[in-house]
Amino acid sequence: MSGPIKKEKEKDKEIIKVLIVDDIPETRENLRKLLAFEQDIQVVGGDGAKTGREAVELAQKFKPDVVLMDINMPDMDGISATKAIASATPTAAVVMMSVQGEAGYLRQAMLAGARDFLTKPISSEDLYTTIRRVYEREAPTRKQYQQMAALTNPSSSAPSAQAGVPTSTVGAGHIIVVYSPQAGAGVTTLATNIASSLMRPDTRVLLVDCNLQFGDVDAVLNLQAQSNISDLTRRVHDLDQGTVDSVLVTHTSGLKVLVAPPRPEQAYDIAPDSVKDLLVVLADSYDFVVVDTPTQYDNMTLNLFEVAEKIVLVATPTIPAIRNIRKMLDIFDSLEQPKDLVDKVLFVLNRVINEKERGRGAIPTASISSHLKRDVVATIPLDERVMMTAVNQGFLVVTKFKSQSPGRELVDLAEQIRRSVGSTYETDSSLPKDSDPRSKSGIRSLFGGSN
Ligand SMILES: Nc1ncnc2c1ncn2[C@@H]1O[C@H](COP(=O)(O)OP(=O)(O)OP(=O)(O)O)[C@@H](O)[C@H]1O
Ligand SMILES: [Mg+2]
Repeated sequence: MSGPIKKEKEKDKEIIKVLIVDDIPETRENLRKLLAFEQDIQVVGGDGAKTGREAVELAQKFKPDVVLMDINMPDMDGISATKAIASATPTAAVVMMSVQGEAGYLRQAMLAGARDFLTKPISSEDLYTTIRRVYEREAPTRKQYQQMAALTNPSSSAPSAQAGVPTSTVGAGHIIVVYSPQAGAGVTTLATNIASSLMRPDTRVLLVDCNLQFGDVDAVLNLQAQSNISDLTRRVHDLDQGTVDSVLVTHTSGLKVLVAPPRPEQAYDIAPDSVKDLLVVLADSYDFVVVDTPTQYDNMTLNLFEVAEKIVLVATPTIPAIRNIRKMLDIFDSLEQPKDLVDKVLFVLNRVINEKERGRGAIPTASISSHLKRDVVATIPLDERVMMTAVNQGFLVVTKFKSQSPGRELVDLAEQIRRSVGSTYETDSSLPKDSDPRSKSGIRSLFGGSN
């Protein structure tokens, strides 16, 4: 009995794919020889990589489970390469190799995303144990990517991040700007959830935090970023993929994120035009670039509206918020340059109270739609408990509460956006059927008689 069972277990044993990165050929060769003895370890990427840049490329191509990474290398060093790999191929766990006395470097490497380290000269025992330990520790991450790939594309079995995936079925470069003239309306909540929900194995999505002074996407998503948008705007006309990859961070959901500067005063160093140019450049490599914005209506936000394909305009169902939306729509309507802003608008209500629980003070969605003469393309329910837990635990509502409110409504909104790009979205409102004349007249007076 025990024979066949043992055989079955061995057959099922997982193979750990390892990529070796070191600029010294003998070191690569020695490591390769040591690893050749182990049946559960397979060295990928031929002779390995001799520079950081090569490491990033081979990691994307061969999708190793573990990368053995030297620190000092020509071209791109091990720390920058680790950062780029953590961002572009998050299922590849980097193990840093260093000589004694490189403690400072090692700390930086761990901050850049390395999962473990080995001190040279490396004994075979240390090598095997570390590789297996890291592989086991990273199992949940690999599983998450596998599940995501299986959920969104049942024929795909590759636990791949967004980099290196086939080209989009949607078409490149839809810039979606999420904006509200009202602070705290839920712009960041919507931008993060829309971005995550748009992700597919064949659809690359980037979330950019353009709230340059008080951006909080990193805090909301629990991200530790070493670089930020100013590292790219500074050299916007001289960017290569490696630089962009090394600045982006990856959320546990796989979402790529470009965070805002850590301190408000750093926003002054960023020219509004450079942000616009950057978005255009980034849109070349992503199918969707979703943009979080500040409340101010200024040169930068105007620039963002100009490059946007869709502007998700957010308000809570309150009188001051709707009045400000009215003002924004009037501005959009009256501007000669940039033109056609008003046609890009997808108007969304957030923090909407359930019909049954609504008291007399609440404004019906139909009345808001009627007043603004616009469709409300989505109503996201008020749910303090779910939203607060999501923010404090760094997860996205659309991943944990996909099929229940308010995740369901956020997923629906993302799907509307996906459908709306490339086709003209119906913006003129035909009055919703449940429009109630009594509440309309009530609302007319609340809005100061204008309707
Ligand atoms: N539908 C909702 N139900 C309950 N709470 C919500 C909802 N949407 C957002 N929130 C909460 O409201 C707060 C503000 O949301 P968010 O940060 O997304 O707004 P914002 O418009 O980006 O704000 P800011 O102007 O500060 O950038 C957050 O704590 C968020 O969790
Ligand atoms: Mg915000």
